[in-house]
Amino acid sequence: MKPNRNDPCWCGSGLKYKKCHEPIDEKIAFYKSQGHIVPSRKLLKTPEQIEGIRQSSKINIAVLDAVSQVIRAGMTTEEINTLVDQKTREMGGIPAPLNYEGFPKSVCVSINDQVCHGIPSSDDVLKEGDIVNVDVSTIYQGYFSDSSRMFLIGEVKPEWKKLVEVTKQAVEVGLAEVKPWAFLGDMGQAIHDFVRSHGYTVVEEIGGHGVGLQFHEDPFVSYVSKKGTEMLMVPGMVFTIEPMVNLGKRDVFVDAQNDWTIYTQDGSPSAQWEITVAVTETGHEVLTW
Ligand code: MF3
Ligand code: CO
Repeated sequence: MKPNRNDPCWCGSGLKYKKCHEPIDEKIAFYKSQGHIVPSRKLLKTPEQIEGIRQSSKINIAVLDAVSQVIRAGMTTEEINTLVDQKTREMGGIPAPLNYEGFPKSVCVSINDQVCHGIPSSDDVLKEGDIVNVDVSTIYQGYFSDSSRMFLIGEVKPEWKKLVEVTKQAVEVGLAEVKPWAFLGDMGQAIHDFVRSHGYTVVEEIGGHGVGLQFHEDPFVSYVSKKGTEMLMVPGMVFTIEPMVNLGKRDVFVDAQNDWTIYTQDGSPSAQWEITVAVTETGHEVLTW
């Protein structure tokens, strides 16, 4: 349905359609006619929604900062869970993982060969030499944010430390590709090429996602995709960049007991950093680091 050009824009900005989303809608329609995957309207957040996601992201970052202050050898992952839960609620947020599709805890903590979705437990004690991903996701006034960082516990083998550093750089390499009228595959290929140039592998089965009004929205964001393919990036889209990078082979399996935690098949360590990013009219805005 094509709105009247002088009617208020569908995005709720209060501007006339012709002064707001009309040129964007026309451009999207053009790319669609060329056979590209394009975002639906609900994936294009309004300035007000972006502001909500920004506030949610602030809590997410503060929680990760709090974790970074205390994480150390001897701590259990359950203690990290308690901290994340308390800190999030203190700031008026709700931890998004708790009860999400049955997930039993408030944060994912994944150690060494755990690729992601590690479930905190009082039996799991962090030890010197571990590399640990803490993946925090927040709901604030209905808006979702999602980001994760790696932590090195004491002295870590240089080989593992490098994996962690290169994975962080991979997110930056991907981020450089985030701009309107580029494709998610531009980012996917940039990350994949960069990771492969260091001899590491990228997990294919799990990836990033749209985020903001829900925890996981369209599109699925792959890091093994090809330049010029996948969804068109349009101002207002918000999604995560969160490649999972393995020191060894790319293959992974799901824990048969808890049906959540993903491990590397070959037992090699895996690293991941995650940010939430918004596509803007001129490029992008990183909402979480
Ligand atoms: N934070 C994870 C992500 O990046 C979400 C995991 S779902 C959960 O997508 F239930 F395990 F939290
Ligand atoms: Co995510």
